[in-house]
Amino acid sequence: MSVVPARPQDGTSLTDDEIGEEWRRRAGRDGLARVMRASQPGHLNAEVTAATRALVGALLDRAAAELGRPLRRGLEVGCGVGRLTPHIAARTEHLTAIDMTAEMLDAARRNCAGQDTVDFRRQRIEEFQARPGEFDAAVCVWVLMHVLDPARLAAACQALGTAARYVVLVEYEHARVPVSRWSRLRPMEEYVALIPGGRLRCREELDYGGDLSAAALIRTGAR
Ligand SMILES: C[S@@+](CC[C@H](N)C(=O)[O-])C[C@H]1O[C@@H](n2cnc3c(N)ncnc32)[C@H](O)[C@@H]1O
Repeated sequence: MSVVPARPQDGTSLTDDEIGEEWRRRAGRDGLARVMRASQPGHLNAEVTAATRALVGALLDRAAAELGRPLRRGLEVGCGVGRLTPHIAARTEHLTAIDMTAEMLDAARRNCAGQDTVDFRRQRIEEFQARPGEFDAAVCVWVLMHVLDPARLAAACQALGTAARYVVLVEYEHARVPVSRWSRLRPMEEYVALIPGGRLRCREELDYGGDLSAAALIRTGAR
């Protein structure tokens, strides 16, 4: 296990072991609090989940319209407990869903029981390898904000931009309640610049109780 320190916003260092333990701890929470802010009320988490599903769906529809055909292979990065997975699977012929946390993947498999077009894989995004353009679209919601180390973030964006023609990316840009040491706020433009050939095609905003995320459709350099 690597001990390369990540650098969260409060200036302290976190090791891979500490980060892995934090995600296992979160996977032990109840319901949507496993992948959303535990401090927020359940009704807000349900409302924002519905809004996120609609936003991601609309951005995937736009990617399909630009390609001029239905989406074939999709990739979901950091699928968590499968909050969005069935909705992404409904818009792709086949979906590969990855997450680095075994306990999250177990919950996602249960949540998607019976969906035979979805494959789950335990994998870190920064180590993900695929053929160039193997996927029509990759979806990544509130995951890259948790990749704290700049070199790993660059590797993650490189992997996304190589594997998929389009990336649907939703990440915090502004937090009303300061984020914890496990997260980092960055402007969407920073991610786009790290994706090889990345071009912003469309950008929306997602309001989660005053925490503002950018929701973007990005065309990558993959053909
Ligand atoms: C905030 S949750 C979001 C889950 C899901 N995308 C959603 O919106 O419901 C972040 C997820 O990303 C996973 N994760 C964090 N860093 C990762 C990395 N470097 N590679 C793959 N998965 C990661 C965590 O295990 C967790 O399940």
